Amino acid sequence: MPRTLIEPFRIKSIEPIRMTTRTEREALLEAAKLNVFKLRAEDVLIDWLTDSGTGAMSSRQWGAIMEGDESYAGARSYYRLEAVIRDITGMPHFIPTHQGRAAEKVLFGAVCKSGQLVPNNCHFDTTRANLEFLGVEAQDLVIAEGLQPALVHPFKGNIDLARAEAVLREHGQRIPFGMLTVTNNTGGGQPVSMANIRAYSALLKAHGKPLIMDVCRFAENAMFIKMREPGYEHTPIKAIVQEMFSYADGATMSAKKDGMVNIGGFIVLRHDDWMDAARNLLILTEGFPTYGGLAGRDLEALAVGLQEGMDEDYLRYRLRTAEYLGERLDAAGVGFVRPTGGHAVYIDARTVLPDMPAAHYPGWALCNALYLEGGIRGVEIGSVMFGRQQPDGSETYHSMELVRLAFPRRMYTQSHFDYAAEVIADVKKHAAAIRGVRIVKQPKFLRHFTCECAWV
Ligand code: F0G
Repeated sequence: MPRTLIEPFRIKSIEPIRMTTRTEREALLEAAKLNVFKLRAEDVLIDWLTDSGTGAMSSRQWGAIMEGDESYAGARSYYRLEAVIRDITGMPHFIPTHQGRAAEKVLFGAVCKSGQLVPNNCHFDTTRANLEFLGVEAQDLVIAEGLQPALVHPFKGNIDLARAEAVLREHGQRIPFGMLTVTNNTGGGQPVSMANIRAYSALLKAHGKPLIMDVCRFAENAMFIKMREPGYEHTPIKAIVQEMFSYADGATMSAKKDGMVNIGGFIVLRHDDWMDAARNLLILTEGFPTYGGLAGRDLEALAVGLQEGMDEDYLRYRLRTAEYLGERLDAAGVGFVRPTGGHAVYIDARTVLPDMPAAHYPGWALCNALYLEGGIRGVEIGSVMFGRQQPDGSETYHSMELVRLAFPRRMYTQSHFDYAAEVIADVKKHAAAIRGVRIVKQPKFLRHFTCECAWV
């Protein structure tokens, strides 16, 4: 048996990417105020900023797009998607939204009240922001192992059940529902085990609380369960997915991930209680409940994408891709969050720039270096993203300085990954030449998106 795991697809339609010289990239990055978010995408060779909505659709999806029924109410495309989602999730209620954060906004708006508290393994930024916007406290209760980058554990996304129980005991009356994010993006794209989902669901039930799952990467999570959790080796992915959903009372989904589409999201609910309120809010901000902010053709592409996203050969190749880059980084002496996650590799910038002071933003500096060296765009998850400027002008810094390389689905081939591995190894070799930055202009919130920097 050949050992090379190949891309389980061939390419029918291509999009050129543009080579630039280092001199050009230096000028482009300067013009972007040393912030890769401000670069034009066409000036990027390998764009690993996010896996969200950036993947390639299949010929079956493009074919389905032509079948889109654009009727305002009761479109055929809605019912087609509803049948697929009901089959996967087992939940009777489904409403489409334009993306994940819209699902969050509509569901939380329908259910939550100021002063409440929601426990989760880790809230994604938009999940936290949508809760906090309503005056709800978002508590992260991932297991301690999930916060140690170099530690290997099969399910670093698990929620700490003892802490969850303590929170339920102490704050039960403030908790409208418990959440669980699969996979745990904020913690490195790490999976949650079936045992943990089952136990957390039972714990919540014992306290009379529903479980709402954030299921952006449910298929990648299911594949990790198949590969790592005893008893699931021979279970088909779809059956694992169905069991995961069987423990939940509802879910929010950004279909831009494992839905394999460029735009889309949804809410599913098992019970009637919250449906009327959610539907009313949906009509207010997204659209009529049978299209919810999407075109009929988007619903069709998603109906196909959800099924393709559960294909085992695809998932095996997908998780192996991240693992492969991890092996190459290991060989180059570059540290990263271990084990590699489903959708991304998170480089530990401190292993490349051990002596750079936090005030020079080593994560940001490494991110810039990857662009300058090889035209690769990642995203800093460090002190620019999570540090804060205090009223007296001083700074607080984040505990970790990471650079996330997130992989669009079915888009880059092994040679792109080999190229990236070489670039990263070269950056590490010449790390002494990497320059830190200072922030010269920043907005009050989410400063990483728009801040302007200068070299120190
Ligand atoms: N939940 C998780 C776990 C996510 O990773 C995201 C998006 C969302 C919710 C929000 O979904 O973008 O469709 O509104 N994550 C992207 C990322 C943006 O780059 O990780 P959305």
